[in-house]
Amino acid sequence: MAIKRLFLFACFTGILSSCNQEPYQQGKNLYTYYCESCHMADGSGLAKLIPPMSEEYLSAHRMEIPCIVKYGQKGPIVVNGIEYDQQMEGFKHLTDAEISNVVNYVLDKWAPGTSPLLPGEIASALASCKEKTK
Ligand code: HEC
Repeated sequence: MAIKRLFLFACFTGILSSCNQEPYQQGKNLYTYYCESCHMADGSGLAKLIPPMSEEYLSAHRMEIPCIVKYGQKGPIVVNGIEYDQQMEGFKHLTDAEISNVVNYVLDKWAPGTSPLLPGEIASALASCKEKTK
């Protein structure tokens, strides 16, 4: 699968053994470690508290996903026609490569019709939300 080539190699500092893992596998492990407790292994979320991983939302907000992962998300958002108004904390300690791997894992799994984010797109997305949070 071509998308796999876009994943970046990097060590996931939370799990030492992941240093040798393939980027796609690292994205999956990061999702399991950091996201699954809320968004669930199958991405279905939790009732009206945690939104699901939805193709519609992910494809419409593709460039915002790196910022959501790094800096969090709060305020009302509509996912699959349901309004959520909770807060997700960001994962500021993740490196750009780790963000790239987890975001591209999420896109590949739950929004397969959406193109993966290239390293340059991850960098510019993160630069733009860094500006906003200053
Ligand atoms: C403590 C619970 C929690 C964890 C852990 C968490 N999230 Fe979230 N996430 C939320 C909540 C709550 C929202 C909605 C916030 C709002 O109402 O504005 C959200 C929103 C989102 C959204 C936008 C809406 C959607 O459903 O597509 C994405 C994408 C997302 N999270 C991805 C992730 C990823 C990737 C991780 C792991 C790196 C993660 N989240 C970890 C609770 C969590």
